[in-house]
Amino acid sequence: MGSIVESAKQDANGSLAEKKPTVVFVLGGPGCGKGTQCANIVEHFGYTHLSAGDLLRAEIKSGSENGTMIQNMIKEGKIVPSEVTIKLLQKAMEESGNDKFLIDGFPRNEENRAAFEEVTKIEPAFVLFFDCAEEEMERRLLSRNQGREDDNIETIRKRFKVFLESSLPVVEYYDSKGKVRKIDAARPIGEVFESVKAIVAPQNEKVKGYGRVLSLEESEDCDIVHLRSMFEGK
Ligand code: ADP
Ligand code: C5P
Ligand code: MG
Repeated sequence: MGSIVESAKQDANGSLAEKKPTVVFVLGGPGCGKGTQCANIVEHFGYTHLSAGDLLRAEIKSGSENGTMIQNMIKEGKIVPSEVTIKLLQKAMEESGNDKFLIDGFPRNEENRAAFEEVTKIEPAFVLFFDCAEEEMERRLLSRNQGREDDNIETIRKRFKVFLESSLPVVEYYDSKGKVRKIDAARPIGEVFESVKAIVAPQNEKVKGYGRVLSLEESEDCDIVHLRSMFEGK
């Protein structure tokens, strides 16, 4: 994977890895509701939402030299080379000023996953996986109405195939590391979000409330450490 990783590494300014941001990968088939649920999570929990697909579509619109290549890949439901997508993600993370990210629709294949880890040295805190049947995802995509060039039945079928062959193995990889939180995404939006909240809220408390103190004390005894830091006026 040498050259992809090396060139992306050279472009990284180092500050991102030093910040050790919290990253949650949001995965699931096309149309399962990743973007919809991420918008809710942002509102409730203060994450920055980065959709790899949205970043790629913005890159096409910006008239970048990669624009035509990206457009052709999206039209065919293919996965854009990791070098391109990772650079866009890195730039967006650095510019956001936040330290908590929902990375939606990435990693989409093994190459995406390995290159991101290698370049950024970031491992996800956990992976939200939205599970939904193809027929339901197809219905949702065909009525999405956002004028997307890939929301037609021919491209949708190709995207489903890529999801099964290339993206599900990434979910299985993280599952083997105990990082996957699977959610039944076939239910109404509000019900799905109740399940999302039950997963994200406890993790968020860890990140927000005790991160600083714990890193100083290297202790898991949150209450005692927290009380002590209050007592000492920190
Ligand atoms: P993804 O980002 O995973 O491709 P979106 O969030 O864009 O999916 O959702 C695809 C379409 O389905 C959108 O039109 C959205 O409004 C709709 N949608 C999302 N979640 C649900 C749900 N739980 N039930 C019904 N429709 C949904
Ligand atoms: O996630 P979303 O449905 O917006 O992705 C749309 C398309 O963008 C994908 O079908 C694929 O062509 C491209 N994409 C990619 N690599 C990613 C995410 C999206 O090539 N990691
Ligand atoms: Mg989306």
